[in-house]
Order: sequence, then C-alpha cells, then structure tokens
Amino acid sequence: MDGVDLAGTVDLADLGLDEGGHLLVARALSGLRPGQRLAVTGTHPALRLHLAAWCREHGHPVAEDPAGAAPAGVAATAGATAATGPAATVIVTRGAAGDQRWRDAERAGTAAGPPAARASQAWGLAARGALVEAGGPPLGARWSERDHVWADIAPQLYAAAAASQWDPATAVDWTAQGGRVPAEIEDAVVQLMTYLVENEQAALIIPARLLSQLHPHYREVMQLLASQAADEARHVEVFTRRALLSGGEPGTSSAGGRASLQTLLDEPDFTTAAFLLSVLGEGTFLDLLRFIAEHAPDQVTAEVTSLAARDEARHVAFGVAHTAHLARAERHYLGTLRQAVERRHSALLDTAGLNAGVFDALVLLAAGSWSPEAVRRGWHAVRALQSRMDEGRRRRLAYIGFPDDEAAELSALHTRNFM
Ligand SMILES: [Fe+2]
Ligand SMILES: [Fe+2]
Repeated sequence: MDGVDLAGTVDLADLGLDEGGHLLVARALSGLRPGQRLAVTGTHPALRLHLAAWCREHGHPVAEDPAGAAPAGVAATAGATAATGPAATVIVTRGAAGDQRWRDAERAGTAAGPPAARASQAWGLAARGALVEAGGPPLGARWSERDHVWADIAPQLYAAAAASQWDPATAVDWTAQGGRVPAEIEDAVVQLMTYLVENEQAALIIPARLLSQLHPHYREVMQLLASQAADEARHVEVFTRRALLSGGEPGTSSAGGRASLQTLLDEPDFTTAAFLLSVLGEGTFLDLLRFIAEHAPDQVTAEVTSLAARDEARHVAFGVAHTAHLARAERHYLGTLRQAVERRHSALLDTAGLNAGVFDALVLLAAGSWSPEAVRRGWHAVRALQSRMDEGRRRRLAYIGFPDDEAAELSALHTRNFM
C-alpha cells in the first residue's frame, strides 16, 4: 500500500457485489470528496470483475492496488472456503458523476406546511417534499394550481372519511325488511332506489375523473376524492341491494333525469364540476336522503339512506369549502359559477327534469297509503322538502360569496332532477 494516499478502506470479507456488497462500497464512497481514494478489500472470487463494472457504471475510476498485496487482516481470511478466492484490494477513486446527477434536482415543494401554489409537471409522481432528479417524464396533470383544487379543510375531511368507512354487509341489517312493506309502497321504494343508483353512478364517475387529472402534489384532495368515489361505490351497492330486496325488477330511468346527470359528466372544469355536483346536487340530495330515511316504510331503507347521507355531508363540505376558497382567491370566479348554472339550466330547459315516477314515489312514501287525506299529507311533505332543498342551496351559495338575491335566483335555476 506504499505510495497510495487513501482516504478510507472498506472490507467486504467474502461478500460479493452480487449479494449487496456494493452497498458497503457506496456507503464508504459517500463520505469522500471527488478525487479521494478508497481501498476495497475482500475475498470474493469475482470482486475485481464486479467492482470494476459497478465503478464504471457509477463513474468512479478504478486502479488495482499497485503492490498487488492485501492489507493485513484481509489475508487472514483468504481461502477460508471454496467460495472465496485470495484476498484482493481494489483502489477506487471517488468520481463526481453522482454529484452532477443531482445538481439540477429540486424539491417537490416542502413536506411540512401548505402545498405549493403551483405544482410543477416536472415533479411528476414524486412525494411532496422529495428531492426530484431532473429529466424524468413530465406528468401532464390538468389541475396543478392550488387554489383551483384546494380547501384548507381537505386534510381533516380525508381523515374523517378514512375513519368513517362502513361495510355494507354488516352496517345494514338486511334481514330486517321481512316483506312487510305493502306492495304499492314497495314499488315506490324500488323506484326511488333505482333513481338513487343512477345518480350515485354519476356521483362516482365525476370525482374519479377529476382525480385522474389532479396533480398528486395536492395529496389530501386526491385522497379525499378517492374516498368520495369509494363512498359512492358503496351507495350504488346498498341502493341496488335494497331495490332488489323484494325480488322484483328495478324501476324506471327517465331520459330527462339522465340528461341532467350528463351535463355534470360533461363539465370540464374542476371547480365548476365540484360546485354543480357537490354544492348544488349533493347538497340537495342531503335533504332528499334524510326525507326518504324519515318516511322509510322499513328499516333497511332507513338505514341505507341514513348511511349515505352521512357520507354525502362530507362531499358537500368539501365542495362548499373548495368553491369558497377559490371564490375568495379569485373574486371573478363567482361569475364563472353563475354562468355554469345558467348554461346548465338552458341545456335542460326542454327536458322533463325529474322522473315523474320519482316525484310520485316520494309523495306516496310520505303518505304511507292511498287514502285522499294521506296523499294530501304526502304532497305537502314533498313541497316542504323542496322548500328545504331551496333554503339549503341558498345558504351554501351565500357562504360561497353570492349575495342573497343572486343565491335565490341561482337556487331556482337548479335542475329539477335534484342532482
Ligand atoms: Fe352518494
Ligand atoms: Fe356524494
């Protein structure tokens, strides 16, 4: 070793580079500056060959020990087993390639604190705060500005969503119905469930679509949308199961109802889609689900609608919080939202809106029987429901920033389909 100025040594003993030996070499080199030299010793028969290849790949020049001698201590283990060779020493000079590789790296925002105002496409799928090597494929996310996707309440809402997941198999007592619902009331329940499934399917597709185009830097929003889609998947399941519980066919699906939902599916803007779906649609559905639960003729119907309403309250909370966040950051956005409601109203003007069978089913559910007095009671209960829906929409619109008169106008333009 005379004449070799070493900054460090590492002994691999009989460990080969094909079994992780390179980790010890890399660890030893990481403590050196470019140009400093490391002696690597070991008895693995392919040490020289494998180390030369590894060093070439990682930009570290190699010179074999000019003396050809192993340092003391290594020689003692040489030839100990058939799998080991004579002790060898290889001198590795630490190269600068590894430093250059990370020279243009940047942090994907910071792990602590709020997410970045704008997420770079170059950050790709990197974890928030990770050191991102330059040169990877750009992400191509459509939504990469914080104000256009964010709400400060998103992390708490995601935590609440994760803690509130329920199992349709056990959260509902499916044996409780027992065929005691009169046939005509059961038909009304089946029609309502059929309608709910259709709406839930739209409510599943929309967050899933927004999620697929969201920059994952806004992790909590991504997680929240994923749990929202999972919530809707459960709603589809339990409403389908209740619709088929009595063994008959599902009810009807109206063209007007589907036209209303199609306008939601076709809305390209993140915030506008969240506003139309969650603030106006799901906000209105909260009252609808509570109404059905209140007037349910059987326990299963009451349970499935109550469980769904609990989830919907979170979806509405995010929609309202996010829309309000953007409207505060960009005041003119209220105009964009207003136009979206007006545009949707015009598009649906020539459609029937709500499936007439759904309205009738709501009346019958609240009536509980076909006696004239009961039907009158049911009718007024549904009118009262519509008033509550309108009040709820106006309250949420006012929270977002619309003056009261404009909130009333926009609420009145909301689709007759409720969603
Ligand atoms: Fe739902
Ligand atoms: Fe929902």
